[in-house]
Amino acid sequence: MKIVINGGTGLIGSKTVARLRSAGHDVVAASPQSGINSVTGEGLAEAIKGAQVVIDLSNSPSFEDVAVLEFFRSSTGNLLAASKENAVKHYVALSVVGTERLQASGYFRAKMAQEELIRSSGLPYTIVHATQFFEFLGAIASSAKADERVTVPAALIQPIASDNVADVMAEVALASPRNGILEIAGPERFRMRDLIARYLAAMGDTRVVDASAGVPYFGAMLEESTLVSDNNPHLGKIDFHQWFESRPKAA
Ligand SMILES: NC(=O)c1ccc[n+]([C@@H]2O[C@H](COP(=O)([O-])OP(=O)(O)OC[C@H]3O[C@@H](n4cnc5c(N)ncnc54)[C@H](OP(=O)(O)O)[C@@H]3O)[C@@H](O)[C@H]2O)c1
Repeated sequence: MKIVINGGTGLIGSKTVARLRSAGHDVVAASPQSGINSVTGEGLAEAIKGAQVVIDLSNSPSFEDVAVLEFFRSSTGNLLAASKENAVKHYVALSVVGTERLQASGYFRAKMAQEELIRSSGLPYTIVHATQFFEFLGAIASSAKADERVTVPAALIQPIASDNVADVMAEVALASPRNGILEIAGPERFRMRDLIARYLAAMGDTRVVDASAGVPYFGAMLEESTLVSDNNPHLGKIDFHQWFESRPKAA
């Protein structure tokens, strides 16, 4: 089966490409690196010709409010138009648990715009909502309010390993469209303060980590459960310890 993975060179994209290729599928890993640009439309019609499944695992190069909204609107619009043209049987995309609760953030308004375009496209679809990836903990720590202490939101977090996300993306792509959302999360729920402290300590950073209800998460204030799923999510098996020990180390 021909499957196009937009963002096929990214963190989740490259792992999903590998899984579907090893299952014997004809997979196009689409990205600007391979001459396929879903924002400008360059190379898209040719890439999607004859595809039965399109999976969107791209992300915006900029998280600035206007740029990220423009990215997800243009990219999703072009992908959906080319998918309709080719009567694609299943359109799959990856979004974030809690997107609907995070609308004070420009990034999450852009993810909502992406989801709404898919829902109203008329194409058979599945949207996967994942919690934060373990690989994203460094970005959360870097974005936190920091001086000699690091202050993160007083909220719960239940991260999932990118390998477990890619397993689900590959399975969902081969299953029937849900015309709805599937939620996925990691095996353990943490207070964000505790997990970021554990992550920083494991990285050799001994700063104290505090929690405050008054600090935003990428522009949005969090309630305790904003980032976690209460919709009976599918749980990944890799826990923090296993992920940390097996992650690729910088050379
Ligand atoms: N981070 C998290 O914790 C988290 C949690 C839940 C869901 N998500 C969602 O997961 C998705 C994938 O994230 P990721 O971290 O795997 O992304 P990533 O590693 O940053 O990869 C982004 C991909 O998008 C491609 N791309 C950028 N501009 C493009 C364009 N104009 N046309 C086509 N492809 C383009 C990139 O291609 P090049 O390599 O050529 O630049 C790359 O392959 C995102 O949509 C994000 O919202 C993330």
